[in-house]
Amino acid sequence: MSSTFIPFHKPAIGEDEIQSVIETLKSGWLTTGPKVKTFEADFGRYVGSSHAVAVNSGTAALHLALDAVGIKEGDEVIVPAMTFAATAEVVLYLKAKPVLVDCRADTLNIDPDAIEGKITCKTNAIIPVDIAGQPCDFDKIMEIARSHKLKVIEDAAHALPAAYRKEKVGRISDITCFSFYATKTITTGEGGMATTENAEWAERMRMMSLHGISHDAWDRYTDKGSWYYEIIRPGYKYNLTDIAAALGIEQLKKCDRFHQARQQIAMRYHDCLADLPGLQVPTCRPDVQHAWHLYVVQLDLEQLRIDRRDFIKALKAENIGASVHFIPLHLHPFYRDSFGYEPADFPNASAAYERIISLPIYPKMTEADIEYVISTVSKILKQHRR
Ligand SMILES: Cc1ncc(COP(=O)(O)O)c(C=O)c1O
Repeated sequence: MSSTFIPFHKPAIGEDEIQSVIETLKSGWLTTGPKVKTFEADFGRYVGSSHAVAVNSGTAALHLALDAVGIKEGDEVIVPAMTFAATAEVVLYLKAKPVLVDCRADTLNIDPDAIEGKITCKTNAIIPVDIAGQPCDFDKIMEIARSHKLKVIEDAAHALPAAYRKEKVGRISDITCFSFYATKTITTGEGGMATTENAEWAERMRMMSLHGISHDAWDRYTDKGSWYYEIIRPGYKYNLTDIAAALGIEQLKKCDRFHQARQQIAMRYHDCLADLPGLQVPTCRPDVQHAWHLYVVQLDLEQLRIDRRDFIKALKAENIGASVHFIPLHLHPFYRDSFGYEPADFPNASAAYERIISLPIYPKMTEADIEYVISTVSKILKQHRR
């Protein structure tokens, strides 16, 4: 057994990030200011998007994006059942209704063939989620959206850096929302970014991220700007701090290097785990660049005498942290009770939930860590094969 615990995730924070934060602390400007502006410019350039709006979480980015495209009370928004709480709750913030759609059995991304049956005259948007960092089937999703005049707000919390048919995630959908939460592919502790080609939506998100007022703090309090401001709409308090942006600027510089490291781990896992009876490795489509934020394997329960819960316990007993992404929304009390959803309404998400395990995948993993995860997974499978 490994003498030290291999956690599910460890952030990759180096001296550059530490120095950058110290510099910001010493600068005297802590909240939204020059570092945020630089981070936005760098990020927009990196994903190839004309506008990038930094906020204090991925959830805030999703909320502002829905608000910017005009989602309002009574609207319906298509949301995958297989996702995190944030994707659907932002729809409810605006008093609209999240309408759940099943996932594909292979990629776990929203099933485009299941979307059209859920569209009504009240539907105004789709929120595809790039699960684990693999872009959704955007040709089909955009075609459905355009033919029904729906906006596409992409939840790309997992998908930096990723691409679909050579188009970078960040410029495919109407608005793309990223997360820089502590476990994500780059982190600012907490943080998020919304990218779009639409200047009006960008301006609206920027304004609503800071109380719906006409200038941000940088313009108001420095001699470049004036003390005068106007409240245009009742907005939110979603602005990113310069402390967080200082982290983000340095993390973004390493994004490609981090990605390469995760890709190598994914390839090692694939090579060593793909042929093991009792386990399915993740499906990666040939026409995408997968961000490999998560490596989600599925247990072949018919071949095993152990269930998913006990498999994770067995990994923990061997000093390996693992997780589940996700408990599908329709299985949570709120969505089950509010909308009357049953497991059978989403057969792929319900079946996947019983089988999925997210294994550790992050740049700080050592060669020995990777080897140990592979040998331990193989050992547990062998011990519990029928
Ligand atoms: C799919 C998905 N969407 C949205 C979010 C929300 O991001 P944040 O924690 O930055 O608000 C997460 C966070 O884990 C996520 O996994």
